[in-house]
Amino acid sequence: MEPLIQLKGVTKEFGGNVVLRGIDLEINSNEFVTLLGPSGCGKTTTLRIIGGFVDPSDGEVLFNGEDINDVPAHKRPTNTVFQRYSLFPHLDVFENVAFGLRVKSSEFQEQHKIDLLLEEYKELIREEKDPAKKRQLRREVTRKAQLIKDPNFELKQQIEELKGKIKDLKNNPKYIESKKANVAKANELRDKIEEIQLELRTVSAKDSNYHTIKKEKRQEIKELQEEIKNLDIKRHYQNEIKALRRQFETRKTRERDLETKVLQYLKLVGLQGYEYRSIDKLSGGQQQRVAIARALINQPKVLLLDEPLAALDLKLRQEMQYELKELQRNAGITFIFVTHDQEEALTMSDKIVVMNNGEIQQIGTPEDIYNEPINRFVASFIGESNIVEAVMLDDYKVEFDGVIHECVDKGFSKNENVEIVIRPEDIDILPKGEGKFNGVVDSVAFKGVHYEIDVLTKYRAYTIHTTDYHPEGQEVSITFRPDDIHVMEIW
Ligand SMILES: Nc1ncnc2c1ncn2[C@@H]1O[C@H](COP(=O)(O)OP(=O)(O)OP(=O)(O)O)[C@@H](O)[C@H]1O
Ligand SMILES: [Mg+2]
Repeated sequence: MEPLIQLKGVTKEFGGNVVLRGIDLEINSNEFVTLLGPSGCGKTTTLRIIGGFVDPSDGEVLFNGEDINDVPAHKRPTNTVFQRYSLFPHLDVFENVAFGLRVKSSEFQEQHKIDLLLEEYKELIREEKDPAKKRQLRREVTRKAQLIKDPNFELKQQIEELKGKIKDLKNNPKYIESKKANVAKANELRDKIEEIQLELRTVSAKDSNYHTIKKEKRQEIKELQEEIKNLDIKRHYQNEIKALRRQFETRKTRERDLETKVLQYLKLVGLQGYEYRSIDKLSGGQQQRVAIARALINQPKVLLLDEPLAALDLKLRQEMQYELKELQRNAGITFIFVTHDQEEALTMSDKIVVMNNGEIQQIGTPEDIYNEPINRFVASFIGESNIVEAVMLDDYKVEFDGVIHECVDKGFSKNENVEIVIRPEDIDILPKGEGKFNGVVDSVAFKGVHYEIDVLTKYRAYTIHTTDYHPEGQEVSITFRPDDIHVMEIW
């Protein structure tokens, strides 16, 4: 399957300052992808390049395999929830959400069409010498521009075409000729209808098929009447025009459709009943949800979210993380999510892109990134860890802190200098003398679910997460299993 979005060698400089250094990234349809990294590493810039708000200095951005470097932001299949969500404080919740639709459906596209039209006529009017004809051209272009603003523009164009055809008929001798034949044909059909009506009257109510027969006959009559109507080609066109007029979208129907949609999306983000609240009477989390509804209502293929939850307190943030993830799953939209919060990235993402200093460090599932960090930066950025310089003596054999340990990694050169990482929750505390290193409990902090305990060994302090309490100053020993040691190359 072709990726939905590809970035190929994307770089960005701001006034000689390189902030992105060759970003290569593939994003699939319906994926929840998170750009994760410290402040200033280039997350927002990457997102803005995908959204079309910033041009890359070099490299390509492809959507469905097509280069979209020249496609402006409003024409891309993306919608953005910005780092500081920009709601309109003077509009209520309903109008803030509806805004997304109103803008998308009309103004941009209409204005573009009108611009093209004016450009075309400007030339014509300039070249026309006859003042009367000049005036006529001006009237024509005004009328056409008005038509473009009309929601029924396309229907009216079809009607104009049909009217033209009717006009042509008047000068068509064949049509005049055929009218006589049509009169005869119509009489014939009317006779047929009369016959069927007679038959209808004679059907006995006692007949077991009474209702079916009646229904069939009525249908036959209807079809014949329709045939008479359309016999005359002119009548046929006129009927088509009537049918088109019936489809006219009035301001009222447009408003009604819009309302249905806005309410549907407010419900989706859990804000039903809040339509007429003003924005400044909403909590931060509610405002955030309004911003998300406004972005979703256009049904973008891709939603770009720049730290959308940063302003929320922990509890609300966790709630919204869950809701957003659900939303993404249910709506089948690709999310590109920016955060510098590793926990948020780990809980929400299908794929995490860890960035540092304008470069991608590692791309992988949350499990990959957490369990198999590729280097010291990723290991330390993704949660607490014990990172230790070591030597890979041979396959499955690594030496650190003066001890040779069995491990599960291979493929390094003999005696290669490496770094190993051991996650705090993978280390166990045992009674003195029973583990791999002896040490003393240096500090204990309660973290809600577990204790964070630092054990000072001969070479260093190891951080350990455990639900068992050990008092400061206790002599202990620490241990871990071969597969708890993860060996990393030095970058
Ligand atoms: N318009 C700009 N002009 C000049 N420099 C810019 C511009 N936009 C961003 N930068 C610089 O580019 C670098 C990357 O910025 P970016 O906003 O992409 O970082 P970020 O990863 O989103 O950071 P944060 O987590 O703080 O939002 C920063 O050093 C920033 O100062
Ligand atoms: Mg940013």
